[in-house]
Amino acid sequence: MTFHDYFAKAQSIKGLDKALWPVLESITSASVKVSHDLQKAALLDGVLGAQGGQNIQGEEQQKLDVIADIAFINAFENCGSVAGIGSEENEAHLAFDTEKTKSASYVVLFDPLDGSSNIDVNVSVGTIFSIYKRTSKYGQAATLEDMLQAGGKQTVAGYVLYGTSTMLVLSWGDGVQGFTLDPSSGTFILSHSNMRMPESSRLYSMNEGNIKECEPGVAAYIAFCQSKENDYNGPYSGRYIGSLVADFHRSLIKGGIYIYPNVPAAPKGRLRLLYECNPLAFIAEQAGGLATTGRKRILEIEPEALHERAPLFIGSKNMVEKAMSFLN
Ligand code: AHG
Ligand code: MN
Ligand code: MN
Repeated sequence: MTFHDYFAKAQSIKGLDKALWPVLESITSASVKVSHDLQKAALLDGVLGAQGGQNIQGEEQQKLDVIADIAFINAFENCGSVAGIGSEENEAHLAFDTEKTKSASYVVLFDPLDGSSNIDVNVSVGTIFSIYKRTSKYGQAATLEDMLQAGGKQTVAGYVLYGTSTMLVLSWGDGVQGFTLDPSSGTFILSHSNMRMPESSRLYSMNEGNIKECEPGVAAYIAFCQSKENDYNGPYSGRYIGSLVADFHRSLIKGGIYIYPNVPAAPKGRLRLLYECNPLAFIAEQAGGLATTGRKRILEIEPEALHERAPLFIGSKNMVEKAMSFLN
């Protein structure tokens, strides 16, 4: 079944808002373009490598970060259902300025390309997105407050993984579905229905270069994973791709825990609450997993700033609970 047919069915059975389709179609069309650009990146001029600037987070922007950002913004602006966006690559939110977009119901927060450090080495990257109903008055420009909503209020959350195949994984609060791009038709087809995250597994995922820098409870939990005194009576396997979306996708399918704690270089964690932690937390919970800061449920955080960061403990329910038990 195509993604469009799946949506149409859910719309007629569950009463999903029809105005969501143009937003979702924007995501599929922009991601097909980005997927093509990624596949041909090394063969095209001006696609691989650093852009020569920094984004608002002080991180080096890659050319593909900017190419993907523009592709998604253009698609959202033209779809008619999006009043404004917030993106990792732009300092301020953007309110679209036509009569139609000012009356649109939704705002989108997104990380256009997650895993920038993996672009040049042909390793999986992704796009992560969150769709919210705006809270400001229809007919007026979208506001920052529209963007700063707790993750629990997401209407749709999802990601596109540009891996060995390109996959769209999303949830509108009725479980998690996965669609695989058929490159010959440019269509996403339902390939993984009702995805469930295993309650535990033998996989942990963390940038262990940080282990001596983070709070003692995190190091103690990782030592537990590596010991013989754990629930598998032997060391778990460490897996860290360095693209959150790819590490999360593995955890969704095979189970596991992904941890990005506070570290001195990133005292509030490295990952961005609005367009990395929140959408993946929504998916994790919809699939039976958990997502916390180590102490608090991610989806309950009231955001204060567009580029706010949060520590993230996400994945299989039993593993996240166990990791949290090691923290004070
Ligand atoms: P982005 O490429 O969007 O800036 O995000 C990178 C994130 C995330 O994808 C990944 O898990 C993490 O940063 C990797 O950080 P380290 O290099 O510190 O491990
Ligand atoms: Mn990212
Ligand atoms: Mn990014």
